[in-house]
Amino acid sequence: MIREPLPHDSAALHVAGEARYVDDLPEPPGTLYAALGMSSQAHARIRRLDVAPVRAAQGVIAVLTAADLPAANNIGPVLPDEPALASELVQFRGQPLFAVAASSVELARRAARLAQVEYEPLAPVVTVEQALEKKQFVLPSARVARGDMAALGAAKHRLQGRLRSGAQEHFYLEGQVALAIPGERGEMLVHSSTQHPTEVQHLVAAALGVPDALVTVEVRRMGGGFGGKETQAAVYAIAAALLSRATGRAVKLRVDRDDDMVGTGKRHDFIYDYRAGFDDTGRLEALDLMLASRCGLSADLSGAVNDRAMSHCDNGYFLPNVTVESHRCKTNTVSATAFRGFGGPQGMFAIESIMAGIARRLDLDPLDVRKRNFYGAAPRNVTHYGQTLQDFILPELVEELERRADYRRRRDAVKAFNAASPLVKKGLALTPVKFGISFTALPMNQAGALVHLYTDGSVHLNHGGTEMGQGLFIKVAQIVAEELGVEIGRVHITATSTGKVPNTSPTAASSGTDVNGEAARDACRKLKARLAPFREKNPDASFAQIVRDAYFARVSLSATGYWRTPEIHFDRATWKGSPFFYYAYGAAVSEVAVDVLTGESRLLRADLLHDAGRSLNPAIDRGQIEGGFIQGMGWLTMEEVVWDAKGTLLTHAPSTYKIPVAGDCPPVFNTWLWERGENVRDIVYRSKAVGEPPLMLALSVYHAIYEAVGATSASREPVPLEAPATPEAILKAIHAMR
Ligand code: MTE
Ligand code: HPA
Ligand code: MOS
Repeated sequence: MIREPLPHDSAALHVAGEARYVDDLPEPPGTLYAALGMSSQAHARIRRLDVAPVRAAQGVIAVLTAADLPAANNIGPVLPDEPALASELVQFRGQPLFAVAASSVELARRAARLAQVEYEPLAPVVTVEQALEKKQFVLPSARVARGDMAALGAAKHRLQGRLRSGAQEHFYLEGQVALAIPGERGEMLVHSSTQHPTEVQHLVAAALGVPDALVTVEVRRMGGGFGGKETQAAVYAIAAALLSRATGRAVKLRVDRDDDMVGTGKRHDFIYDYRAGFDDTGRLEALDLMLASRCGLSADLSGAVNDRAMSHCDNGYFLPNVTVESHRCKTNTVSATAFRGFGGPQGMFAIESIMAGIARRLDLDPLDVRKRNFYGAAPRNVTHYGQTLQDFILPELVEELERRADYRRRRDAVKAFNAASPLVKKGLALTPVKFGISFTALPMNQAGALVHLYTDGSVHLNHGGTEMGQGLFIKVAQIVAEELGVEIGRVHITATSTGKVPNTSPTAASSGTDVNGEAARDACRKLKARLAPFREKNPDASFAQIVRDAYFARVSLSATGYWRTPEIHFDRATWKGSPFFYYAYGAAVSEVAVDVLTGESRLLRADLLHDAGRSLNPAIDRGQIEGGFIQGMGWLTMEEVVWDAKGTLLTHAPSTYKIPVAGDCPPVFNTWLWERGENVRDIVYRSKAVGEPPLMLALSVYHAIYEAVGATSASREPVPLEAPATPEAILKAIHAMR
């Protein structure tokens, strides 16, 4: 069953429109519809909030402000630093001020605009630069160092500069939504589109002022999460639950696309200041790197995001003497949050730009510089945070890709093309990926599962992971079918519920299959052990017969399973340890054409070679690799998040925010799984996590553009190309180099 390219368990339902999302669930009689009233200022004291006109509006049944909340007013997942409903102070434009329930969605949304709010404006801090200058942070800054920074001054060559990478909107197809259904004795059932049902349960219970046990959160599937529903589904669930409590009726809160984009956090954009020292061959001798991210008004997950940026600013390269400092800037913008890669892409962006800059300075092929800096034999096999690499396969993998993508010949062809083409320049680049698998927050690396066997031989499968399109459920079902030795069709996948598996971690950090798959395996092994005596007596009987025999002999046919990742450890105080159970690897070659007059670019060809270990499901993995790559390309080339100086999000709808579409896929698009791939760790049949790492393969697209733009000038300076490399950014870089 494992290793088969089975389709996603909901594939047929997805295309037929039969897969149920929260908004498709049958509504209990009397269901009300909710909307949030949002701040129109980014930073202000609230002098007066008058919701009387909202209350008086047609169809309105209930209105709640912070003053009406029965208990906690908090949505902060790590620190209690962000209210569900703001009262005295607003800290970003779009911050919820009140919640309204009405008899229709239309009426609720209309009423939400009728509040009279008097603001006393305060100066907003919008950019990273402003926050850095004011030393305004959501969390203390962090630092990791190794070696001797005197190597920087001693190096023969030096480069320094400031880099930028952009934010990114998640643009999940299904927006944020929750349906709260009140029960008896204060019980509340919440259907939420969340990657983290347990956290929603806890925050809803705290807001209602009831024990966690009274709140059940259920998630059958999300129409995409991408990190945007790791923490930020909570406010919608809380508002729906509070209004449900206030009215005694079911309440559904589904936000429209604009409000979703304005009201939810994005990928952290970063600025980087670096100083790098290197030798004649391009080998790094020292790196001094400062990372600063735009976190918005609260901490949310910014602690862990910046940590991952710090731990991934090596990518595949050995940094002998290094200092990395990271700042989490507090701004009057929506709280930035998890986004596929979780700081990893941002960390890698910096070092890949530095590699490209070094190659340009020395007039070397960037691939040769990259290879020269790869981790290698001891002592060059230890990361700057102290983890020893066990299976650094990038040299072989890159060699293989170089051959398959015909890198050297095509580099020459691009050079020849550019020599004869003044207005269209081509670029070709190969970039690698090394991505650490495990939550950096240690307690999150655990999972539970629940498996029932019925006497007809069918299997009920439940675990703590959530399905967001990534194929987690089919992979875990394959594992269960394999362990029990039954057909996949016998395994019935069921919705994630805090009532079935408690105290779960978010489905994030790409670890869904690893931890839930192992937990489900654990449950299956227990069941198999219980069935073993009956199998022994009856070797040829069907699975159903064995299960029935066990039932008649009064043997329990239900088991929980549990897994926690062994061995990992990390000390944030010294910033040393081995936080990752293993690493996933990959590499990509991209070829682009850039129009020198308009700044437009096109991806002409991409070749991806990715290590999913011994793949559990090559069809699903291929989908993750291609999808992740295209999503990363969006981040680096076209998706531009813009706030104005007052903190207003200008890119608040598909009209002003461009994500890649089918037509942006390259006409030649090769995706290969690394056939020799095998996890060094004995986990889920030696497969590897695949959800996030391929996003970073898209660095090759940015660097292909970098090369093409670089070809417009003979300068040996780094190409001043900001990310995303929109036509505007490309033109800016071309003009700056003239
Ligand atoms: N794939 C799809 N189709 N939709 C998603 O929302 N989220 C990504 C990735 N792939 C996502 C996706 C993110 S951010 C993560 S962390 C992983 O899937 C989570 O799932 P996994 O741990 O099961 O891989
Ligand atoms: N990745 C994703 N989500 C997380 C992490 C992480 O490393 N740590 C805490 N939440
Ligand atoms: Mo993914 S950013 O870890 O939800």
